[in-house]
Amino acid sequence: MSRPYRFAMIGTGFFAQNHLHAWAQIPGVELVATCDIDATKAQSAALQFGGRAYTDARELLANEQLDFVDIATTPPTHRMMVELAAEFGVAAICQKPLAWEMADARAMVDAMAAKNLPFMVHENFRFQSPMRRIKQLIDDGVIGRPFFGRMSFRTAHDVYAAQAWLVESERMIIVDVAVHLFDLARFFIGEPQTIFTSALRVNPRIKGEDVATVLMHMPEATCIVDASYETRSDRNTYPQTFVTIEGTQGKITLGPNYHLQVVSGAGVIDENLVIPDHGWTSEPWNAIQDSVVNVQRQWVACLKSGVLPECSGAETLGLLDITLGAYESLATGQVYAVGSSL
Ligand SMILES: NC(=O)c1ccc[n+]([C@@H]2O[C@H](COP(=O)([O-])OP(=O)(O)OC[C@H]3O[C@@H](n4cnc5c(N)ncnc54)[C@H](O)[C@@H]3O)[C@@H](O)[C@H]2O)c1
Repeated sequence: MSRPYRFAMIGTGFFAQNHLHAWAQIPGVELVATCDIDATKAQSAALQFGGRAYTDARELLANEQLDFVDIATTPPTHRMMVELAAEFGVAAICQKPLAWEMADARAMVDAMAAKNLPFMVHENFRFQSPMRRIKQLIDDGVIGRPFFGRMSFRTAHDVYAAQAWLVESERMIIVDVAVHLFDLARFFIGEPQTIFTSALRVNPRIKGEDVATVLMHMPEATCIVDASYETRSDRNTYPQTFVTIEGTQGKITLGPNYHLQVVSGAGVIDENLVIPDHGWTSEPWNAIQDSVVNVQRQWVACLKSGVLPECSGAETLGLLDITLGAYESLATGQVYAVGSSL
């Protein structure tokens, strides 16, 4: 048997806990080190999951023999971390959004490509089991050709309690959650040609936008992406994404609590999807936590086979162009021509 892939977890804050739990169940990997500028967080992760704790990523990379790093720091540090990985000849998987600016993202992709190193973005919503199921139904032609979509994430859950950095971030719900919805739109329907954004700040306590609606025009389809952190509702469905896809021969709806309805030539089929349980996963996070396992499985399979991961760094430049383009549309009040920043 070949030796396990040696890796380090860089950034051991809120979401990294899901990464750490998921890695612990992935065969063929070994956590060698953890790193966080907050020493307590790095140490407590190392204590629970293994490896040596660092507060400085450069020191970590200089000291340890690694095959890859998993980066879950906040976005402004992503470029620095990926370039560091490239400098030390180590593959990298990095949390979304890849960067704040296209130039940074391109520099990251170029740095990894120059050393021929695998590089994936942790774009996990498409890896949620219900989303894989929807994609399969579309690819099987069950609803014909999709001509309309809606990806919706609306909640009043206090996201700031666990992620304080969102309060200060000038860019907020579009980089935090709409980015995932854009990715789902591309995954299910295809690349948009233009997008138009309407967005607001409802909560006066924060700096960025907390409500956003983006209209995406594909060559033969329209998709609405809508996200809100200020939506009061009779039931708390956080952190679920609702999906509607209308096709020439049917319709797919993913509603509350992963209720899937498929209308097709075969009639109407209703199903309550069961999210795989990994022991450490729990409601309401289970579908997101399960998606982290699925991302990591794909990453390891790609390392083994040499095949490019679905959300490679280079592929994700297109997603970042849409995400940054959504802000440009907001700033100019104009439609953004997708691809303009590429
Ligand atoms: N894919 C998802 O579903 C999902 C969900 C939540 C967050 N995220 C992403 O995960 C990333 C982290 O978000 P979070 O909410 O967990 O933030 P967080 O603040 O809880 O965690 C980030 C950690 O990085 C550490 N850090 C910052 N700079 C560092 C540096 N230079 N060296 C080492 N450590 C450093 C911080 O001390 C902190 O512990 C973001 O990119 C965010 O968008 C993704």
